Amino acid sequence: MLDLQSLPVVLRDRRPEDLPSMGRWLTDPQAEWRKWDSPYTPAEQTTQTMQSYMEFMKVTPPEADERVIDVGGEVVGLVNRDEEDPAGAGWWDLGILIFNPNYWGGGVGGRALRLWVQDTLDWTDAHTLTFTTWSGNTRMIRAAHSLGFRECMRVREVRVVGGERYDSLRFDLLRREWQP
Ligand SMILES: CC(C)(COP(=O)(O)OP(=O)(O)OC[C@H]1O[C@@H](n2cnc3c(N)ncnc32)[C@H](O)[C@@H]1OP(=O)(O)O)[C@@H](O)C(=O)NCCC(=O)NCCS
Repeated sequence: MLDLQSLPVVLRDRRPEDLPSMGRWLTDPQAEWRKWDSPYTPAEQTTQTMQSYMEFMKVTPPEADERVIDVGGEVVGLVNRDEEDPAGAGWWDLGILIFNPNYWGGGVGGRALRLWVQDTLDWTDAHTLTFTTWSGNTRMIRAAHSLGFRECMRVREVRVVGGERYDSLRFDLLRREWQP
């Protein structure tokens, strides 16, 4: 069992040597993370998206809106952000995926998200940040609340996972509300 609290969590640019392990995690149709990150998307579609994404990463240098999560030298996941249209209005949607489940539930996600929010506020003109998830993803919901985000949108019973209906959820935080 890993002592996650004692390991440093760093967000950094991906390196070419990270790609083989990232590719294994991201394109594995059986990977546990698929039960939590957009599990309502058809599996083949997710696999295709991930395969294209790996090809893209092989030929594209890292960019500021995406980082890997490095825990004690091990790449365990990714963070990303997208500016919502229209550009310049200050709305940025943030995402996180820890693809290695050995690193779940020990505070790594919370620490990585805190760094990512700070990075986004430091390097963009963001006025409002959001996270988008579904009502079955308790870890993501709790992590968002812990950072000071609050629910700003709930579309009821539109996400079907394992034959059950869940809500689509969004959380927001204003720049002036952030407590580093
Ligand atoms: C969602 C995710 C980023 C959270 O990161 P994490 O390192 O697992 O979570 P943390 O240990 O930082 O805990 C976050 C919160 O969830 C709670 N939590 C942790 N494990 C939990 C569990 N098994 N059940 C319920 N709550 C749990 C923690 O107590 C914490 O809440 P608190 O701040 O109120 O104490 C990570 O689990 C992940 O990437 N999962 C797979 C992909 C995914 O779901 N991505 C998000 C898509 S929207």
